[in-house]
Formats: sequence, C-alpha cells, structure tokens
Amino acid sequence: MARFRFYTCKIIIVTSVVWFMIGGGMLMYYTDCAGNNSLCVKKTLVVKDSTEDEDNMYPKSAIAPRGRFRRYTPKDYKLNPSHWPGEMGKGVAIAKEEEQLKNEKFKLNQFNLLASDRIALNRSLLDVRMEGCRRKEYPKTLPTTSIVIVFHNEAWSTLLRTVYSVINTSPAPLISEIILVDDASEREYLGKKLEDYVSKLSVTTKVMRTGKRSGLIRARLIGAAASTGQIITFLDAHCECTRGWLEPLLARVAQKIGLE
Ligand SMILES: *[C@@H]1O[C@H](CO)[C@@H](O)[C@H](O)[C@H]1NC(C)=O
Repeated sequence: MARFRFYTCKIIIVTSVVWFMIGGGMLMYYTDCAGNNSLCVKKTLVVKDSTEDEDNMYPKSAIAPRGRFRRYTPKDYKLNPSHWPGEMGKGVAIAKEEEQLKNEKFKLNQFNLLASDRIALNRSLLDVRMEGCRRKEYPKTLPTTSIVIVFHNEAWSTLLRTVYSVINTSPAPLISEIILVDDASEREYLGKKLEDYVSKLSVTTKVMRTGKRSGLIRARLIGAAASTGQIITFLDAHCECTRGWLEPLLARVAQKIGLE
C-alpha cells in the first residue's frame, strides 16, 4: 500500500513538472524579449545596420511619404535628483493637514491633482524595458513622426509632463513636431498661457483648437491634417513616455514600408 502511494506521488510530481516546463517554455517563446535565449533571438526583429544595406532594407518606394528616413542617435537620458517628489514613479505622500485641499483638487480632474502638481514636469522614470529590449539595435535611419495629443480641460501638470516626456526621451531628429489639439477646453490656462509656454520648448510644438466640442477622433484628424512627419503618433494627454519608447515603434512601421 505504501509503495502504491509512493508511485502515485511520483506520478503526480512528474506530471506537474512536465506541465510546468511546457508552460515555462511557451512563455519564453511568446515573450519577445525574454533575455538572451536562442528561442528569443529567432524572433528578434532583424535589423541590419550597415550603410550599404540601408537602401535594400527600405526600397525607394513611393509609400514612404515626404522624403527619406532620418539619421539619429539615441537620446541621452538624464535623471533628476532622486529626492524630488514622484521621481522614478515614487508615490507622493499628502500630509493629513492637506487632505481637504487634496479632495477639492481631486474634483477638478478626478485624480490626485495636488500630488501631480508637486511632481516635476520633467520627472525621470525607470527604464521599464526588459534587458533584451535594451540591447536591441535599431536601424541607423528611421522615419520621422509627428506627435498628436488631443486634450479637453486637461490638468496643466499632466499635459505638460506628457509633452516633456516626449521631448526628453525621443531622438530630436525623429520628431517633426508635437501638435496639441484642444477640443474646446474651458480652463483659462489652456489658452494663451499654454501657447506662450510651448513656444519656448526645444521641439516645435503647436497648439490647435477645434473651436467647438468635436470628440476625440475628429480632433485627432485635425492634428493629423496639420502634421508634417512621415508617421503620425497619437498619444493620450496624460501619459509619460519612457526611455527608448519611440525607436521600436518607428522601426516596425519602417519595416512594413520596406515590405510593400
Ligand atoms: C528638469 O527641469 C529643471 C528645471 O525646471 C532642471 O533644473 C533639471 O535639470 C531638469 N532635469 C532634467 C533631467 O533635464
């Protein structure tokens, strides 16, 4: 009887181990960037980098609009002092005494605006890429992109943090311009003050207005019509780009252009 139980246990354990390994194997195979393993290398985007190959990689087809791809170097990403509020995505603690102020500000945009306003507009964030993704090489030339961001009564700090994150994480030659499309906001700071502020940024940033409430898609189309880049990238008005976000996206589209 004892012997019988021993075999049952063994079978159960062996079966579990086998399924565990199958599961693990599948996971590694379908995760594009699971480090250095051979399964991953097979799936890695094949990007040849020598100059002589460049022309073959991207046939001079009419599909690539508005000229040639641009040469760029990866953006040098600097960090703010780590004790600043919210750096690296740390939580911002609001003191008990400020609870009421926090609740009042919360009502304006339905999130903790008091905390958001204390975080630097150019705060640094963790490099969230997996190890394998950090080491990936992308073509030396990529298409340019226009960044279109639609907003309606967006908070100043979240909107500007989105804009700064684009500027601070994207290679400058690849960004044709940032286009902010205001879908009939009523907040005063989103008027002239915003236009003046963005006019001083290091990347060309335009503010466009829909005039009357148009909805997200119509507003995006207005931005798209005004864009001069080879690709259009639409972003939310309250997101932050992190290191190395842009190159993989542009490389995928570039590859697609090359295939057609
Ligand atoms: C962020 O902006 C502040 C000024 O507002 C500046 O002192 C700091 O160097 C900037 N940080 C980075 C990483 O560029």
